[in-house]
Amino acid sequence: MPYSEPGKTKFQTDLRRHLRSQDICDNLIHLICEIAEASKYVINAVRTGDLGVAGTSNLYGEEQLALDVLSDRIMRKRLIHSGVVCNIASEEMEEIYEVKANADGLYSVAYDPLDGSSLVDVNLAVGTIVSIYSGCDLLQEGRKQIAAMYILYGPRVSMVYSVGNGVHEFTMNHLMEFTLTRENIRMQPSGNIYSPGGLRNKYNDGDENFIRYLEAKGCKLRYSGGFVPDINQVLMKGKGIFMYPALNGSPNGKLRVLFELNPMAFLIENAGGAASTGSAPILDIKPESLDQRAPIYIGCVEDVNKAVEYVNGR
Ligand code: AHG
Ligand code: MN
Ligand code: MN
Repeated sequence: MPYSEPGKTKFQTDLRRHLRSQDICDNLIHLICEIAEASKYVINAVRTGDLGVAGTSNLYGEEQLALDVLSDRIMRKRLIHSGVVCNIASEEMEEIYEVKANADGLYSVAYDPLDGSSLVDVNLAVGTIVSIYSGCDLLQEGRKQIAAMYILYGPRVSMVYSVGNGVHEFTMNHLMEFTLTRENIRMQPSGNIYSPGGLRNKYNDGDENFIRYLEAKGCKLRYSGGFVPDINQVLMKGKGIFMYPALNGSPNGKLRVLFELNPMAFLIENAGGAASTGSAPILDIKPESLDQRAPIYIGCVEDVNKAVEYVNGR
């Protein structure tokens, strides 16, 4: 339910105050607030920055846009100067950036600074995705995240976070402050929208059959090509499924475990949904490398379970 229910006084609960209600330590509150602050500079880059290519490539060998590089620099500098970060991994950096060697009580952060960056030049919504772990190891299972969040740069700018105690949405007001707009967001058991990523002519039979099942039950196709707005729609409506399956020629699909799948799976599971590779929960993957990819089915529990059945030929 939107937080500012009709007839109720609209409390301007800001992010820091809400984080203090979450029984987490001050360093984590500081880190999440720093990330929220950094997003204001990313917004400015998205709205006015250069749309051209950077002339470089990322961890995956993909051509980087100037916006990817600029957003990455904004996030990295903010994390380095936060004083509470040990190691940093970014979809746009080749290797882990070590801020402080093995300092206890610190956090490690994996982020995608601007997911969907190629959509900016057609003015579609894009976002920043962040995953936070305790300590210095960034190749932990996603279930060990202590926080995950995304910032969605759409018609409104919103931020969604969880520290494992519910999932909460904040919307940026005219003063560029994030104020609480939805608290303890919950997914329904099954939904009525689906987001099929990737080329359909490369889908396996199980995935095609699953889509026929969804269409037969009256689901509507909702796909923008941006992972953050597509997931946000499923989460805010509380009913739906996003999928980016294994494709012929790409058995691990496209999306990245550390920078995209783990944070979104943490959020969706904390909202009562599910996230699977088709054979195991996303959050149980033990990453072997920074650039690991995996197929994903994420959203309502019953829809994800049905996807797993079809994908495994049941
Ligand atoms: P990124 O811009 O960080 O590379 O991510 C793009 C991803 C994700 O946003 C989206 O779900 C997916 O690419 C769309 O891929 P297709 O165009 O193959 O559907
Ligand atoms: Mn991405
Ligand atoms: Mn990206």
